Amino acid sequence: MCGIIGYIGREDAVDLVVEGLRHLEYRGYDSAGVAFPADNGIEVRRCKGKIKDLEAIVYNDKPAANVAIGHTRWATHGVPSEYNAHPHSSDNIVLVHNGIIENYLDLKKDLTDLGYRFTSETDTEVLCHLIDRYSRDYTFEEAVRMALKDARGAYAILVLSASDPQKIIGVRKDSPLVLGIGEGEFFLASDVPAFHARTGRVIFLEDNDMVVLSPEGYRIMDLSGNTLEREIEFIPPMAAGADKGGYKHYMLKEIHEQPRALSDTLRGRIFPERGEVNLGEFMLDEGMLRGINRIFIGACGTSWHAALAGKYMIEQIARVPVEVDLASEFRYRSPLIGEKDLFVSITQSGETADTLAAQREAKRRGAQTLSICNALGATSAREADAVFYTHSGPEIGVASTKAFTSQLFSLYLFSLIMARIGGSLGKQDAVGMIAELLRVPEKIEKIIGSEDAIVAVAKELFKAKDFLYLGRGILHPIALEGALKLKEISYIHAEGYPAGEMKHGPIALIDEDVPVVFLVQSGVLKEKVLSNISEVKARGGRAVVVMSDKLLGEVQQADYTIGIPDTNPYLEAVLMAVPLQLLAYHIGVLRGCDVDQPRNLAKSVTVE
Ligand code: AGP
Repeated sequence: MCGIIGYIGREDAVDLVVEGLRHLEYRGYDSAGVAFPADNGIEVRRCKGKIKDLEAIVYNDKPAANVAIGHTRWATHGVPSEYNAHPHSSDNIVLVHNGIIENYLDLKKDLTDLGYRFTSETDTEVLCHLIDRYSRDYTFEEAVRMALKDARGAYAILVLSASDPQKIIGVRKDSPLVLGIGEGEFFLASDVPAFHARTGRVIFLEDNDMVVLSPEGYRIMDLSGNTLEREIEFIPPMAAGADKGGYKHYMLKEIHEQPRALSDTLRGRIFPERGEVNLGEFMLDEGMLRGINRIFIGACGTSWHAALAGKYMIEQIARVPVEVDLASEFRYRSPLIGEKDLFVSITQSGETADTLAAQREAKRRGAQTLSICNALGATSAREADAVFYTHSGPEIGVASTKAFTSQLFSLYLFSLIMARIGGSLGKQDAVGMIAELLRVPEKIEKIIGSEDAIVAVAKELFKAKDFLYLGRGILHPIALEGALKLKEISYIHAEGYPAGEMKHGPIALIDEDVPVVFLVQSGVLKEKVLSNISEVKARGGRAVVVMSDKLLGEVQQADYTIGIPDTNPYLEAVLMAVPLQLLAYHIGVLRGCDVDQPRNLAKSVTVE
């Protein structure tokens, strides 16, 4: 998703904005640019490519400015190119934008009729000309407000005006924008990491907030110009290691730090001797939970896979009905959800547009809402009735790894809460389940310790064109996740499928060129998946089998085996995810892919 940042203060604004864009690179982008006041108005420097390409054109004749805005673009309308890169300008007005102006074609027609000439294919450029048009008759602030009354869609924008060069105006609607308050300096950005090295004092702006920054300070108002008071929060220094920490890629670092991340997810949340989970950490009211009829979970991508696994945990441990939806579907299906239901959003970033919309739709229909989120202060967390932070630390790699396993841990904890409240789990069983949870970090260390075996499998298979991932029960969502990890970082086509569905079609795909990854669980379904392996082998397929170490002896026909430590069926889903993450990572590296910032992907999809 696009990244935006603005700075006003006493320091070198362009340096700080370019540095801020570096901290936003993880969001995924294809072009970048900056703008700053200069002798001849507002100067724009931008390019297709990466921040290093932008630095080449910014620093060949170093600008000196105390005000600047910057942008990394993730293309929605218009190809990645210099002319589509932000900032965009219209005479006096220059702006950067994260979001989509949905009625831009209508506005573009009106503006063209007024004589404006467009130089890009973007929706954003429309906003520039619209503000410029109103700035002929109104002040800079009024012109921005008037323009936004005409525009429909999602936006976080930062605007400069040549007629008021010591001012930055920022506005947000359905796209994140956070104000950083430093010592005599101010930042506006999509996300805290853009300026966190300079200040942790932040204001998370609300929808339709407008903020005007000047060297003297900031003013926040609504779109009618009425001043608003917003709470200043403090985000502690980022967990040490929001950098690569000696690893080749963030993704590998984040896979390896899962033992610590999962321990952090548990910290302060469990009472092992009592077999209890700290309900206060979920900010949930026990009385409300007792009255819950059904639980709905809405999410996207990897978080949706966690939701699917969570269904098995909650229904089997707590015996509460669970419906899982892709958030992008839930919001449009007129869901039968109401006051006796709980809607759970699962979202690493807390800014995914579809998940936010689903959460708002559930709330509008009267449901209680819980956000399971990894980003402190994110929109989903602030708008939900309750939030459970996964505390897995900053996840910079676009492909989610530690956030995913932390989500599974969170759903396991939530299942134990619901089970103790509903009486479906006795104290001793709960004590045992929490004891097993506490052993997972060390078991993941063991899997990581056998990484070389996974690298060997990757070397055998990295040239394949298609993969199948098969699992049953709670391992079906993990099969989906393993396939997503592979396709999003190695660009190999991969499908996750319920193993029982093989014979209903996918088996037609099987030949020696299609590796099939089987996730074999230790329970009653084991025999059925073992017979699926035989079906594949009988057709010349290659079988990669991932299963508990203690059962590997039962597999006669696997071409490759990956063992994991033994655990209970629910936490087996957590352990199984790790070798699949490593397999995808090493195949991606062997194929020379940009595993931290895969093509076309964004870390947080803040548009529909
Ligand atoms: C994960 O590997 C993907 N990058 C993507 O599917 C992601 O899980 C999805 O966009 C949801 O993001 P969220 O968890 O921040 O809402």
